[in-house]
Amino acid sequence: MHALPEQTPALIRLRDYRAPAWRVETVELDFDLGIEATELSARLLLRRDPAQQLPLQLDGENLQLLSIALDGVQLPATAYRYAGNVLEVDGARDGSVLETRVRLRPAANTALEGLYLSGSDEAGFLLTQCEAEGFRHITFFPDRPDVLSCYRVTLRADRARFPVLLAGGNPDGSGELEGGRHWACFVDPHPKPSYLFALVAGRLEKIERNYVTANGRTVQLKIWAEADAIDRCHYAMDALERSMRWDERTYGRNYDLDVFHVVATHDFNMGAMENKGLNIFNAKCLLADPDSTTDEEYRHVEAVVAHEYFHNWSGNRVTCRDWFQLSLKEGLTVFREQSFSADMNSAPLKRIEDVSLLRRAQFPEDAGPLAHPVRPAQYSEINNFYTATVYEKGSELVRMLAGALGQAGFRRGMDLYFERHDGHAATLEDFLGALGDANGTDLTPYLAWYGQAGTPRLKARGHYDAARQEYTLTLAQPAPGKGTAEPRPPLPIPVKLALFDREGTMLPLRLDGQTSEPASEIVVVLTQTEQHFVFGHVASSPVPSLLRGFSAPVILECDYTPDELALLLGHDPDGFNRWEAGQQLAVRAYEELRDGAANSHALDVWRAALASLFHDTAIDDALLADLLTPPGEIELAERETAVDPQRIHQLRQRLQWVLAERLGGEVLHRRYRELAAHTTIDMDAISQARRRLKRRVLELLNLLDSASAGELAAAQYHDAPGMTDRLAALTVLLRGDAPQAALALLDFRARYADNALALDKWFAVQAQVPGERALDGVLMLERDPGFTLKNPNRVQALLGAFVRGNPSGFHRIDGAGYRLLAERLVALDALNPQVAARLATAFNGWQRLESQRRDAAHAAIVTLAARTGLSRNLAEIIGGVLN
Ligand code: PHE
Ligand code: ZN
Repeated sequence: MHALPEQTPALIRLRDYRAPAWRVETVELDFDLGIEATELSARLLLRRDPAQQLPLQLDGENLQLLSIALDGVQLPATAYRYAGNVLEVDGARDGSVLETRVRLRPAANTALEGLYLSGSDEAGFLLTQCEAEGFRHITFFPDRPDVLSCYRVTLRADRARFPVLLAGGNPDGSGELEGGRHWACFVDPHPKPSYLFALVAGRLEKIERNYVTANGRTVQLKIWAEADAIDRCHYAMDALERSMRWDERTYGRNYDLDVFHVVATHDFNMGAMENKGLNIFNAKCLLADPDSTTDEEYRHVEAVVAHEYFHNWSGNRVTCRDWFQLSLKEGLTVFREQSFSADMNSAPLKRIEDVSLLRRAQFPEDAGPLAHPVRPAQYSEINNFYTATVYEKGSELVRMLAGALGQAGFRRGMDLYFERHDGHAATLEDFLGALGDANGTDLTPYLAWYGQAGTPRLKARGHYDAARQEYTLTLAQPAPGKGTAEPRPPLPIPVKLALFDREGTMLPLRLDGQTSEPASEIVVVLTQTEQHFVFGHVASSPVPSLLRGFSAPVILECDYTPDELALLLGHDPDGFNRWEAGQQLAVRAYEELRDGAANSHALDVWRAALASLFHDTAIDDALLADLLTPPGEIELAERETAVDPQRIHQLRQRLQWVLAERLGGEVLHRRYRELAAHTTIDMDAISQARRRLKRRVLELLNLLDSASAGELAAAQYHDAPGMTDRLAALTVLLRGDAPQAALALLDFRARYADNALALDKWFAVQAQVPGERALDGVLMLERDPGFTLKNPNRVQALLGAFVRGNPSGFHRIDGAGYRLLAERLVALDALNPQVAARLATAFNGWQRLESQRRDAAHAAIVTLAARTGLSRNLAEIIGGVLN
């Protein structure tokens, strides 16, 4: 038996959902803001559900109640009870008005949930974070997403200390008060759940722009940041405008307030937050300039700006009935964001990036003890469910639905969804219902995807009958739910496919019984455990290209020969599947190395195919860079049962060395010089693609000849016009243990001493140096004056990068990595439980480690679990990983 955390926290279950007994029609909040203490009054107009005769109960956590009145009468202490984070009030009726006054301590709030301080007491600013359950840290309220209310918010504060006062909604007056104070009022005409409430107050600068929506509303767009960062907000402003136009064009959705504020903070638990009319961003997802931001990060900023903006419809206008439906807004919004990014940049590259992320982050989650369905059935702490499964797998499910309906059909469905549920809190059934109804089809079979954990497997095999000129593709899904109590129905799995002849030409597809014109690509949907799809008029044995564009989030098992994979890698016009074939081929090559196979056929085919693509002038530089990159260490580990991360690292290095060898030092050098000759700071696609390939070529060279790669990298570091080239060079210097590395590190540290986001990269790049030595580096970096456990980005940059981004460093055979993590989690948990819990998921997968590491990890986790006083957040994760 495993030791379970002391207090096993109570579970909230989907099946226990009840509509709220009390709603709040209007909310009036009146804040007296201060860093040490803030006081606020809340006036709630209550509505009672006549069908439920339940007492008025409001959520409230760590609130200091100063006064309470019902319908204008101060309540005696006997008329209410505040215990266990619930305030129960006697005597409330339908239409009653409840007024409470509370005191908060923003400066002491290190959990960054509710009202807190970003930055220092002297210079920092106040802000709120309410999703998922932060509003109950601000005032007493039915803090659940199915209670939608109209908000009027008044902020009062000292003008010199808090010159800028912002809250969601439209501005509704402002003015002076006595004693150097001022006030501002905001009214949000759109009913919203409490998790979308936000305010910001402090010294902030802004950039602004007017935007006219497609339906004619002039909107003031304002992006706010501290003075040293405001110049890095222009890219986000452009991205915001692009997002707004795109949502008008693609979904017919217009913005619906007169102002749209975006605020950057360095102290934030997540990426960003879609508060109505007042988005708040982790600075790392908003600020960008060439000197401190990499190309990848630029794309990330664009995506997150779009994501939060898109939430205005998918999340805010139509919100979630309860937190089990979280993917209703998150999966859908990630899908919208991914489609936007694909339109703004290269669609195949975006797909490769998204599927890589899914495999790196979501597949391991789905295969381990923390696996949960996209719609979980239960949770203890909802903040632990902002996961890759809810977000990324959730997006894949929407993508399947969109694929099933086609572009026009999906748009019809989305129009109906927004129209039907506008101003309401919806469920995933509502979503599938609207999409289906608008298209006269029943999508409920897809609900099964939302209810089961685990990555489904799809088996494919082909049979060619030369005499009948027929090709039969057999698709099968091993009975889902086998071994569990109730066997579950098979999932609908859409498989987009094409067939190639052995010259690499696509064949026209004539599916049995199909009368329409033959197409070169079709989608078949596997709805049973096994199905045969028969194609006629096939002149020779074809090579199938399956699951094109990754049409379903499954693990495909298909017995390709290395030559067949090479054919797809060479010829498939679907850029994603081309890359995918290369990845599968690389895995085969890796396995030959791992198993010491006598035969190195896959390895030979792989490197020969890449060597020829390397000289193919038609191929995009960025795609080539991706093709030259084998699956990462985490993905490779997923395929093994007794995982030794250090051995995986060495084998993957060896695999890349073999490739570099085949390409040849000469050729790599030449290509590097050509690419380096074009060095610019421009952000256009070609310049970005060149930088990406240049980095890959330098990394390959580094494996072959670290001395000369070190020279090149040192020069590149020195001459770099921007962060992409600079960081790539620094990474190569560190990985190759180059003598020039130390100086470059010093230079970087000094250069970015005042730039937190750039400095984060300095921590991260060192935390990710592979192998045993990384741990000492981390211990040393923890003593850097710039390190603090109080800043989530810094924690992520050092500890997160180490435990999650450095498998061969973290998984030391002596278990020191595990013990370090366990110790830091205790310290972190006392400050910020959300961040601690997220970091703790790095223990996921320990059961599959080889025995020595497994024992060491187990010991560290058990010791941690035995500690008293862990937060509910951390306790749930630790209890979960031990399962
Ligand atoms: N809802 C935010 C998003 O995905 C994420 C978030 C969750 C931010 C919880 C803060 C707290 O856009
Ligand atoms: Zn989101």
